[in-house]
Amino acid sequence: MKLFVGLCVVGIFVACSAHSQPAPRSHPKDTKKTKDAPVPHSKKKVFNAVPHAKADYECPDYPCLIFEDTFDTLDLDTWEPEKTMGGGGNWEFQYYDNNRSTSFVRDGQLILQPIPTSDKYGEAFLSSGMISLWGHQPHNLCTGNAWYGCERVGNPTNFLNPIQSARLRSAKSFNLKYGRVEVEAKLPKGDWLWPAIWMLPKNNAYGDWPASGEIDLVEIRGNLDLQDEQGNQMGHTHAGATLHWGPYLPFNGYEKTMGSRDGNWADEFVTYAVEWDDASLRIYFDDDLVLETEPPAGGFWEMGNEDWNLPDSLNPWAGSSSRMAPFDQEAITFSILVILQYYIILNVAVGGTGGFFPDSWTNAGYPKPWADSSETGPRDFWERNSDWLPTWNGEDAAMVINSVRAYKLSPDQ
Ligand SMILES: *[C@@H]1O[C@H](CO)[C@@H](O)[C@H](O)[C@H]1NC(C)=O
Repeated sequence: MKLFVGLCVVGIFVACSAHSQPAPRSHPKDTKKTKDAPVPHSKKKVFNAVPHAKADYECPDYPCLIFEDTFDTLDLDTWEPEKTMGGGGNWEFQYYDNNRSTSFVRDGQLILQPIPTSDKYGEAFLSSGMISLWGHQPHNLCTGNAWYGCERVGNPTNFLNPIQSARLRSAKSFNLKYGRVEVEAKLPKGDWLWPAIWMLPKNNAYGDWPASGEIDLVEIRGNLDLQDEQGNQMGHTHAGATLHWGPYLPFNGYEKTMGSRDGNWADEFVTYAVEWDDASLRIYFDDDLVLETEPPAGGFWEMGNEDWNLPDSLNPWAGSSSRMAPFDQEAITFSILVILQYYIILNVAVGGTGGFFPDSWTNAGYPKPWADSSETGPRDFWERNSDWLPTWNGEDAAMVINSVRAYKLSPDQ
């Protein structure tokens, strides 16, 4: 089942407390519309999409469930499939499409399955074909043209993205500030897979990445056996949780807000959860507290600027009275409705030259197929597919998600 509940936000008493619905803005042309049906084809109450919210419910107690998807169906109004070849800023090797071969629901589970592009188009296509994701209808518009994301032409040097995969986001349906988000999932196993369950802010109220923050509930490298310089296992049994925050690149204080654990992330279902309020942010793998960040009175700026030594005039969060900035973002629309800002992303990426798979680490059996300095990463990667593709064992290489839930944890947070 799936549940959406309109959530009222404390501080907006007009909207929350009363059944006195605020007067919609009058507009002469609006008279034919029914006032309670801003989304005419939807019977659901869609959190964040109702322009004149009234108290849809009141939480009888806490924690209070405000969002739930247990994937009886894949609701594309909730989970928007991204369509882009851009590679997430890391020149990753997959492209994302709206395609039920790579994102589908079966038996109450959401499955995100990476597959070789050549399965569809043949291998020669990678060096000679063209992929256009531009689209022209609401469901098939390219969602990201950055880094040549919407259209690419393959040639013998620049191969087209050799993997087709999926990335789903809730930006248009569900966003949150404070509370708990939990995702019960089994992560994929297979060399150079990079699955992630994470959150980004919708409006970047404090500026471009990483100024507006990023919450990574979990990410792993799917490799069967990958070791760092010290011999630590960094493959699929090693999972990390991270916050990204900083005024602008290269200033990102993420190293102060990282946690990791060793476990069976690709063999078992684990509930990955973030909980946060106006004092701290915590990430759990099941009941295990993996990351806890409690910023000092001076907030993330004070925490980061110990190292950055930048003038305070560059503090992007100076306008907020909360020490949790940038993780405190909200916006008020229609004068009454608070739009909270962090949305959920579920994706399976592959490789990339951004440093997530360092050249200096040791992969058992064969070396990393590409160098991060390579300008032909997708080609280098694909040409060695006889090394890594055998490690992608059917749906073991997929991210399998049982449920996504969100809770409000207290009346005022
Ligand atoms: C989805 O992907 C599969 C596998 O690549 C392909 O065969 C199929 O044509 C795609 N479907 C659409 C609608 O593009």
